[in-house]
Amino acid sequence: MTDQTPKKLFIKTYGCQMNVYDSQRMAEAMGAEGYVQTDRAEDADMVLLNTCHIREKAAEKLYSDLGRLRPLKGARPDLKIGVAGCVAQAEGEEIIRRAPLVDLVVGPQSYHNLPAMVRGEAPAVNTEFPPEDKFDHLPQRRATRRAPAAFLTVQEGCDKFCAFCVVPYTRGAEVSRPMARIMAEARDLVARGVREITLLGQNVNGWHGEGGEGFGALIRQLAGIEGLDRIRYTTSHPNDMGDDLIEAHRDIPQLMPYLHLPVQSGSDRILKAMNRKHTAEQYLRLIDRIRAARPDIMLTSDFIVGFPGESDQDHAATLRLVEQVGFGTAFSFKYSPRPGTPAFGREMVADEIADARLQELQALLDRQQKAAQESMVGRTLGVLFEKPGRMPGQMVGKSDYLHSVFVHAPEVAPGELLQVRIKASAPNSLEGELV
Ligand code: 5AD
Ligand code: SF4
Repeated sequence: MTDQTPKKLFIKTYGCQMNVYDSQRMAEAMGAEGYVQTDRAEDADMVLLNTCHIREKAAEKLYSDLGRLRPLKGARPDLKIGVAGCVAQAEGEEIIRRAPLVDLVVGPQSYHNLPAMVRGEAPAVNTEFPPEDKFDHLPQRRATRRAPAAFLTVQEGCDKFCAFCVVPYTRGAEVSRPMARIMAEARDLVARGVREITLLGQNVNGWHGEGGEGFGALIRQLAGIEGLDRIRYTTSHPNDMGDDLIEAHRDIPQLMPYLHLPVQSGSDRILKAMNRKHTAEQYLRLIDRIRAARPDIMLTSDFIVGFPGESDQDHAATLRLVEQVGFGTAFSFKYSPRPGTPAFGREMVADEIADARLQELQALLDRQQKAAQESMVGRTLGVLFEKPGRMPGQMVGKSDYLHSVFVHAPEVAPGELLQVRIKASAPNSLEGELV
């Protein structure tokens, strides 16, 4: 099945961490076919673009990147070009019509078919939501020793139908993977050197077990795995922050004090128009309960400005909510109308107004981010070291709060989790010393 010289696979990943995970699994599936990964598209026998459809700009990037691949394909017609991910799911065959250099189109629920598609044993376009589970068909994750931090998808899809969002259409309905399968994958990762696992799902805290267990119960089980020192999860919906999960933040030291909890807007009117099914006040009360359980938790969020109908007062309410919570960092986006979503076609906020609001919100969030980072100076934090830094003898790792921390530590190896006293804060990182 495999040649003597391994074929080379180049993958470019756009968008969220779910795509990063899917890219790894696709690389593993193609690895079983004799492909090794390369980080140069020029050297590749196959180029795979794992795409994002969340905002218009993200989708347009695919077509400009495909344009850039045209000379490569012209020079080597046997180069295989595949498009995976959410644009593949949303646009299907249309991609090949618009960009005929594309050989394969595979959606996020059907990429276990990729090897057969490459061999020509399955149709070149596959965007099914197959009734069987792709995880049953993917090779086991046993390849080599791994980086100390890994992703693990536990839940996919979304039933929330926020009025702006394509995810329920591109990723489908909410599906939870069984607890036993997740535990097996986690144990396997830990056996290969992983010390930190980030559980992934579009609505990860909506995960539930086959026996009705909640997401907090899953985290408790995972915390029992010897050698798994850190657990994180992303992304969550406020309405799925159950008591069991909040209690897990109180009780489980391996669960990192960091929570990404998108709120999108601070205006009740806009939250309603977005179909978020909670008010600003309910979000604030939830934050109070989470902070009561874990006082040192750092909160992050997502915001959309310029949603149809957003007034100056609505925008002011968002700024107020940000002031009230105090975020460690946050993503903010200008609303991007997505065909097929309920908000598509609603009257848009003028572009200049949306731009000004985005700038104002980002300036506030930047100030909060800087303050949160500076508040780390003088504290002693766990740092999971990942790789050498820029300077000789320097190592870089991630703190409990996901800040990058640079430490002069020539004897330290990747995968070591050590206590570090934070000495200084740089624009995008911290500096510390081993204690
Ligand atoms: N326009 C702008 N931002 C969006 N997001 C999702 N859909 C859109 C859209 N149509 C943002 C939300 C979400 C994050 C992943 O992307 O803030 O939480
Ligand atoms: Fe999209 Fe809303 Fe589902 Fe998040 S909760 S994936 S924003 S529909």
